[in-house]
Amino acid sequence: MSLKGRRLSHGTRKFIIMATSIAASSAASNVFASTPQFTRPTFLMCPPEWYGVDYVLNPWMAGNVHRSSRDLAFAQWKGMHNVLRSVADVRLLHPEPGCPDMVFVAHSALIHNGVAALSSFNPQQRRAETAYLRRWLISQGFLLWETPRETPFEGEGDVAFNDDGTSLWAAHGVRTCRAAHRHVADAWHVPVTSLHLSDPRFYHLDTCFTPLASPTGEGTGYILYYPKAFDAASNAAIENAYPANRRIAVSELDATHMACCALNLGRTVFTGEITRELATRLFDAGFDVVQLELSEFIKGGGGAKSLALRLSDLPITHNRLGLLPIS
Ligand code: ARG
Repeated sequence: MSLKGRRLSHGTRKFIIMATSIAASSAASNVFASTPQFTRPTFLMCPPEWYGVDYVLNPWMAGNVHRSSRDLAFAQWKGMHNVLRSVADVRLLHPEPGCPDMVFVAHSALIHNGVAALSSFNPQQRRAETAYLRRWLISQGFLLWETPRETPFEGEGDVAFNDDGTSLWAAHGVRTCRAAHRHVADAWHVPVTSLHLSDPRFYHLDTCFTPLASPTGEGTGYILYYPKAFDAASNAAIENAYPANRRIAVSELDATHMACCALNLGRTVFTGEITRELATRLFDAGFDVVQLELSEFIKGGGGAKSLALRLSDLPITHNRLGLLPIS
């Protein structure tokens, strides 16, 4: 594959990567020895110090303004942090006043191979978050791929790598604009499939669609999703990519408990409280399921996946051998 000149920023310096006939995934690390290298699954979380439902950006927040408990949110966040820390490195982003949604740190970027595609939030209320994450990413040596203001993109909220990191799924229709999809995919020179969200309750891709690794480490991964959140063409694209036995379609009940907003490390799936039926389906497919109490974050429209931003690459995140058993 031949790469065009790529314009990435590294701190205040600007670089253009020129590469020919090398895999896009290795381009950045070959050129910049200082980009972060991970040997364990690594995530970034942001404590809910200023968390609250202070405004309405999605249907989940409507009716919940000023109705969340920060103490309970902290306890639930701590619960997830403790569990995640038992199987991964978890770094912390300093929470900032005036950013009540900063706890949903996964929406501020999409990261792969030391390159961070930074979000350009659609709602004005979340725009300040990007600057705080940008500063942290620079301090850690990540390369930055900026998104123009006029084409909103909301990080892991709306764009996901397939389980082996070779292509992207990207949603549009609510927060991220379709024109941003190609731009984001160009950060890694990977193909991207656009999906159209058609139910306002599922306003981000991560509320209704999460690629899962193959639990055995062999063969293709699974897709955990709520088909009714997508239009017919999007469902056709999903069915084309995943055979029926790799599609885990959830019920409306599970979908509205944010079951699809799941964080996946190897064969472990961290999610909220789900039905026995879905837990059995995941178990039968070979996954270990960790259910977390996250009611305070559901009031803001988020689930497990939105509370942790993946920093390490997928081969590391999904390397079962690197994972300790969950007690
Ligand atoms: N209040 C946040 C927002 O609307 C919540 C995001 C959580 N979302 C999610 N996609 N899981 O931006």
